[in-house]
Amino acid sequence: MNAKIINGQALAEDIKDEIVKEILELNKDNTNCLNRRPNLAIILVGNNTDSNLYVDKKVNTAKLVGIDTHVYQCDKDSGQAKLLEMIDFLNNDQEIDAIMVQLPLPKGRDYDTDEIIARVKPEKDVDRFHPVNIKPVKDTCDAGIILPPVFGVILEMLKSIDCDLEDKIVTIVSKSEIFGGSLAKTLSCRGASALVVKPDAEDLAERTTEADVLIPVIGKPGLITGSMIKEDAIIIDVGITRDMGSIKGDVDTESCQDLAAYISPVPGGVGPMTVAMTLKNTLELYKIRK
Ligand code: GUN
Repeated sequence: MNAKIINGQALAEDIKDEIVKEILELNKDNTNCLNRRPNLAIILVGNNTDSNLYVDKKVNTAKLVGIDTHVYQCDKDSGQAKLLEMIDFLNNDQEIDAIMVQLPLPKGRDYDTDEIIARVKPEKDVDRFHPVNIKPVKDTCDAGIILPPVFGVILEMLKSIDCDLEDKIVTIVSKSEIFGGSLAKTLSCRGASALVVKPDAEDLAERTTEADVLIPVIGKPGLITGSMIKEDAIIIDVGITRDMGSIKGDVDTESCQDLAAYISPVPGGVGPMTVAMTLKNTLELYKIRK
């Protein structure tokens, strides 16, 4: 059997269409008291090729849906205090609805990423990893929580293939406890039996082969091979690595494609959808402010 492709590019187009429709609807009868388009501020530190590309994608996609972006580019040596000052400035700017600091921050300087994430006002945190925002994701099944963009992407991908999570075993391969744990909770709230395994765990292959839905978030191209997956598994590849000029995922497609039922490819899977979902979150934050 040949795995079907989950086409992230096409699904991203659907999300973008929804955003356009909603922005038009919100502004149609002049009752929008903000009287302006949604504004997303992006802080970009240093000159990392991948980060520049991701930010360009967000800026260009935002233009297509009627969201204004404001990129604050600063030198890699700007330092923690300067970044915190910029965040404070944007927190207090009434015209800014959403803020993101493009990660990762440059290595070799003492940036404290956790402090930076926690400095963004929770109401403007588009990534949703501010401690105040991620706590209810990790601890509750409250409906109506604005999720981190990648979590929304995973749910949308599963919906697009009519995957009912009830009683499905989901394995998330992630080093990050906060990312993996919150994603596991999000999926458990929808009926799945979800667990997180670290990429270097001894029982990695055991955990991946039992998964009906496998979500690698590793950043090691080709780590997930055919012998590590269950027949008819759904694989959502969240790993994105630049490898000798090309973008690669965590899944070794060649050995997995005859066994899996669905695979989200890299490139063309989670990436374009995450851009669209970041803009959807921007719209959600704008709507709350409105
Ligand atoms: N770098 C790559 N993806 C992301 C993202 O979704 N948010 C932030 N802040 N940085 C990123």
